[in-house]
Amino acid sequence: MAQDGVQPGEGREPAALLAIGPEAKARVRILVVDDEHTLRESCAAVLRHEGYDVTVSSRGQDALELLKRRAFDVVLVDLYMSQVDGLALLRAALGTNHDTIVIVMTGNPSVESSVEALRQGAFDYLPKPFSASHLQVLIGRAVHTLLVARETREQQETLDRAQVQTDKLTLLGTAPAFRRAIELARKVAPTDASVFITGESGSGKEMIAQFIHHHSRRSSRPFVAVNCAALPEGLLESEMFGHRKGAFTGAVRDKPGLLEAAHGGTLFLDELVEMPKSIQAKLLRVIQDGVVRRVGSETTDAVVNVRFIAATNGDPEGAVKSGDMREDLYYRLRVVPINVPALRERPEDIPLLADYFLSTYWVRHRRKGAPFPRLTDAALRALCGYAWRGNVRELQNVIEHV
Ligand SMILES: Nc1ncnc2c1ncn2[C@@H]1O[C@H](COP(=O)(O)OP(=O)(O)OP(=O)(O)O)[C@@H](O)[C@H]1O
Ligand SMILES: [Mg+2]
Repeated sequence: MAQDGVQPGEGREPAALLAIGPEAKARVRILVVDDEHTLRESCAAVLRHEGYDVTVSSRGQDALELLKRRAFDVVLVDLYMSQVDGLALLRAALGTNHDTIVIVMTGNPSVESSVEALRQGAFDYLPKPFSASHLQVLIGRAVHTLLVARETREQQETLDRAQVQTDKLTLLGTAPAFRRAIELARKVAPTDASVFITGESGSGKEMIAQFIHHHSRRSSRPFVAVNCAALPEGLLESEMFGHRKGAFTGAVRDKPGLLEAAHGGTLFLDELVEMPKSIQAKLLRVIQDGVVRRVGSETTDAVVNVRFIAATNGDPEGAVKSGDMREDLYYRLRVVPINVPALRERPEDIPLLADYFLSTYWVRHRRKGAPFPRLTDAALRALCGYAWRGNVRELQNVIEHV
């Protein structure tokens, strides 16, 4: 696992860039379910050639029986079959083993049906027809996810044995609307579904993104944030995708981008609606194919396995309508939407947060033993009546400076 990092490889098969060893592959059990003979057998042949342990099934009903009897790591299933349909099989596979990675193949890749499959827990979908290379890359990314999940589990067990307190984030709030957002985040965390977080500035979007990462099977890998509004187009492109030596003035060496840095982990796309259209198109290709080409490169430089979380304090639907945001990218990234309520919509959380910030800053800034301050009722009333346009961040700043 240590060297699963990606090396730029001239003329190598893209899937080989993931560098998954033959012993690891031989231990991966894959089930291929499709009622179409040729497709089923050619998928199986490609995957067996890659060194995976492959089982095939031609009927949904038989596949259900197989799933009950044996644990599979990856299930590749056709979305449209007579008798048992793909979504039912997806639910059955996840029901018997929620760590299973399910990939749906679809001959009719409508946005709705594909997003529905992702929402129900599919790792990804594969539009038919597809190339052997596309299949190899996708299965490679799925298997990489399994290996990272194992690594995360082992790391967690080591920490538990050593009774190390990991600094879990403190997400305070008891208001029902806020709890609903957190429960949704907790529910979606262990899946690889893309999450789109909306909410006003300072409401806690990035904290929720971190919360999702920390509760995911990727938490042993990096959480990488990129602010799409902060950089001019060219710079954002080379930050995200990396560049080859000589790609532009100042590119003195090859440099991997943030997508590669987030490999195995999570990429947080902050202020997504500000992303220039040309970069949106490039990003969509990475999401669909998993392959990264650095700026100035003629070849595939990396295959990445990344979970995406996007956020904005703007109006994404409006950006789609006005043409500033690609609709296909938007649907791909908002498989699970989460809205973080503004602080003024949950005034019951204001005293809680105010007390929390007061005590943390008190401990940090005052000498030991000084009596602990309390907010008076009048002060709390004033805080609860205020509009907090800057939300939790503004409250935090106000408390720090009293
Ligand atoms: N529920 C919470 N409990 C404790 N601290 C919080 C909570 N929500 C937000 N904060 C704190 O408030 C500050 C702002 O949060 P965050 O950066 O996540 O907001 P944001 O929505 O991403 O803001 P922006 O739109 O400006 O990027 C951070 O310092 C964070 O630690
Ligand atoms: Mg933010």
